[in-house]
Amino acid sequence: MMADKAFWNGKRVFLTGHTGFKGSWLSLWLQSLGAEVGGLSLAPPTTPNLFTIANVAAGMASSIIGDIRDYETVRKAMADFAPDIVIHMAAQPLVRLSYSEPVATYATNVMGTVHVLEAARAMNSVRAIVNVTTDKCYENKEWAWGYREDEPMGGHDPYSNSKGCSELVTSAYRRSFFEAGTQALASARAGNVIGGGDWAADRLIPDILRAFQEGRPVVIRNPHSIRPWQHVLEPLSGYLLLAEKLYGEGQRWAEGWNFGPRDDDAKPVQWIVERMTRQWSSEATWQLDGGTHPHEAHYLKLDISKARSRLDWQPRWNLEQALERIVRWHRAWLAGDDMQQLCFAQIAEFNQSE
Ligand SMILES: NC(=O)c1ccc[n+]([C@@H]2O[C@H](COP(=O)([O-])OP(=O)(O)OC[C@H]3O[C@@H](n4cnc5c(N)ncnc54)[C@H](O)[C@@H]3O)[C@@H](O)[C@H]2O)c1
Repeated sequence: MMADKAFWNGKRVFLTGHTGFKGSWLSLWLQSLGAEVGGLSLAPPTTPNLFTIANVAAGMASSIIGDIRDYETVRKAMADFAPDIVIHMAAQPLVRLSYSEPVATYATNVMGTVHVLEAARAMNSVRAIVNVTTDKCYENKEWAWGYREDEPMGGHDPYSNSKGCSELVTSAYRRSFFEAGTQALASARAGNVIGGGDWAADRLIPDILRAFQEGRPVVIRNPHSIRPWQHVLEPLSGYLLLAEKLYGEGQRWAEGWNFGPRDDDAKPVQWIVERMTRQWSSEATWQLDGGTHPHEAHYLKLDISKARSRLDWQPRWNLEQALERIVRWHRAWLAGDDMQQLCFAQIAEFNQSE
């Protein structure tokens, strides 16, 4: 199932976090579907960043730089845009930063979510709301099975826990304010996303590409850590499908959804580094970092049976294919290509894959 152009054409879609990695890709995808896209976010979180490089704002109806920790900012941006659909992605998304800035992380990820839901609640135009959280919202039992949508929320570090809280806020808002009305609210949990145009600190692929580019060895902290890797377009395709269902059929779809990768794409860090090193060049190398690091959960696998069977959603690109697209994207950027066109081309390619 792919996003339906007939549905999205002309829809007013309000994104929070549109200047971020996922938000920039989603904004471009919605633009390619003919949607009117509005956004509210802080300035792009890194330099360089996809938002600027792919000239994302050029095709948006409105792009506001503002802080979701301030309710009035959110209320006004939402009221001015009058969206049909809201997709909430703005967050402080980094585990390690959440240890040094727990207050700011909770303020954005929890109260920011309250502000977005409260502002959406006041808007009669809004019919569908998707809150983007993460696989890390689940209480990690460090077991081998995939986590299902009805498993308890939790989170050891402030980031994961703030996303568990964001899920609880979503559930309370749904039951208190949305369930009996015409607005439908769902949450979406995805794994570690990868793709061209991510420069975030402390993420594996950006760290690898930075090292390649600077001609130094890639330094790896946890070579055996396994993460549920997936190309960024995979969960985004899930958010779009879910929003369509929420808009068209309402409460039936208003619940939590996992959009994770296939089981066999949950690979150790070392596997990825070796693959990318080979794809990049014969001079590229990697080595281990022996220092101590804050606790990071070891293994969290999402069970995607529900999205497969009810939404007819499934992952399209395997990890190998995703890495190949990332290397291609990064090389094109270094060569000075038109990156907006390349993003549109990769979205089109994704849409055509089985
Ligand atoms: N990247 C991943 O692997 C991953 C995995 C699971 C879930 N997620 C979730 O997906 C969403 C997007 O993540 P991303 O990887 O694109 O991150 P990102 O850091 O690239 O983007 C975050 C966005 O949020 C905005 N933002 C941050 N604080 C804000 C505030 N106080 N007010 C307004 N805007 C603010 C930033 O400006 C940016 O637009 C987040 O909710 C994140 O938790 C990401």
